[in-house]
Amino acid sequence: MTSFTFSRAVSSDLDGVLSVQAVVFPAFQEAKATFAERLRLYPDGFFVVKEDGDIKGYLVSYPVYRFRPPPLDTLIGTISPGSDAYYVHDLSLLPEMRGRGAAVAMIEAMTDVARNAGFTRMALTAVGGADIFWRRFGFAVVSVKALEPSLFTYGADAVYMERML
Ligand SMILES: CC(C)(COP(=O)(O)OP(=O)(O)OC[C@H]1O[C@@H](n2cnc3c(N)ncnc32)[C@H](O)[C@@H]1OP(=O)(O)O)[C@@H](O)C(=O)NCCC(=O)NCCS
Repeated sequence: MTSFTFSRAVSSDLDGVLSVQAVVFPAFQEAKATFAERLRLYPDGFFVVKEDGDIKGYLVSYPVYRFRPPPLDTLIGTISPGSDAYYVHDLSLLPEMRGRGAAVAMIEAMTDVARNAGFTRMALTAVGGADIFWRRFGFAVVSVKALEPSLFTYGADAVYMERML
């Protein structure tokens, strides 16, 4: 087994990112334009994992308003200057890349980005039971009725979570 590397994404990585999402989240595919927009708006928060030259995972993150996570596959237009939460939009690894430390490496790098940008709170939408994974990093579920229409674009089991930094 070779070792992986992770780095900031560039636009030529986006096809590889889409290929990973097609494997990991076939029911929740987003358009290339959605990833391209996030990369353009907040490149510091977009990481890719590579092995043997292939993209095998990614993490997309950027600032939002607390309690206002974007619905699935939606263009957001801009990063609002008043954003008060650092949002984990997506973290996906191909099965062969799991259990090898790539998720933790990207989460730590993202957390540094959030702290260095002055954020004191992170948020995410956990899908498919992944809240168990996120609890390890200090995230806890926050139930907000008004969030449900946005949350349910990610499936009926999606939950909104937050942690303080
Ligand atoms: C979530 C993910 C990035 C974690 O990467 P990883 O390399 O597997 O992470 P780690 O090895 O550090 O930790 C894995 C642990 O989290 C648990 N876990 C991960 N995803 C889980 C899920 N959806 N439901 C329940 N537990 C989950 C694993 O069972 C494992 O537990 P164990 O250590 O007790 O065996 C990876 O599993 C993945 O890509 N999953 C599919 C996509 C996904 O669910 N992304 C998160 C969306 S919110």
